Amino acid sequence: MKIDEFNMELASIMLESEYAHKRPVFGQGKPNAKIALVGEAPGGEEEREGRPFVGKAGNNLTEFLTSINLTRDEVYITNAVKLRPSKLSPKTGRELNRTPVADEIKFFAPYLHRELEIIAPKYIVTLGNVPLRAVSGLDLKIGDCHGTLIKGGNGYDNLFALYHPAAIIYNQALKDVYAEDLEKLCELMRSKNDK
Ligand code: URA
Repeated sequence: MKIDEFNMELASIMLESEYAHKRPVFGQGKPNAKIALVGEAPGGEEEREGRPFVGKAGNNLTEFLTSINLTRDEVYITNAVKLRPSKLSPKTGRELNRTPVADEIKFFAPYLHRELEIIAPKYIVTLGNVPLRAVSGLDLKIGDCHGTLIKGGNGYDNLFALYHPAAIIYNQALKDVYAEDLEKLCELMRSKNDK
């Protein structure tokens, strides 16, 4: 099955679900990319544009990709949850982003696995705790396994864990750690002649 067909199928499944009122944000990029990046969930800007990682976190992500000589077009970018988790601000009544809840992650998990099966990347790079756990099915912590290749979870042997790019916005000290982790990913790819 092609990724466009898969997205159409998922769109109609969502329309039949409790998430029918939400606008889906599907994966984007090269359909046969070597690297698939998996984020958490779209935010407000992504929902408006219908593309993953277009806000501040997107700029950070693009910067990191550039640092390892990759462009957005050369990778595939998706999220564990394909809708914007949101809540209403009690003060302003405006819609705010929130972390996805377990039910949302669970709903999309089988589709995330199918999506990754279709793209079949050499490396699945998870960005933060939510996609790390959603892809591996393991109760891992990003602080313990960032910058490493994780084998075994849900049968994947090619999962590489990175911090979420937004983590750097809130914690500048992580910037160096992020750069080191990216270097480890490059090293791994070089050792396998993938780069
Ligand atoms: N934008 C996304 O698409 N995903 C994230 O995880 C964060 C921002």
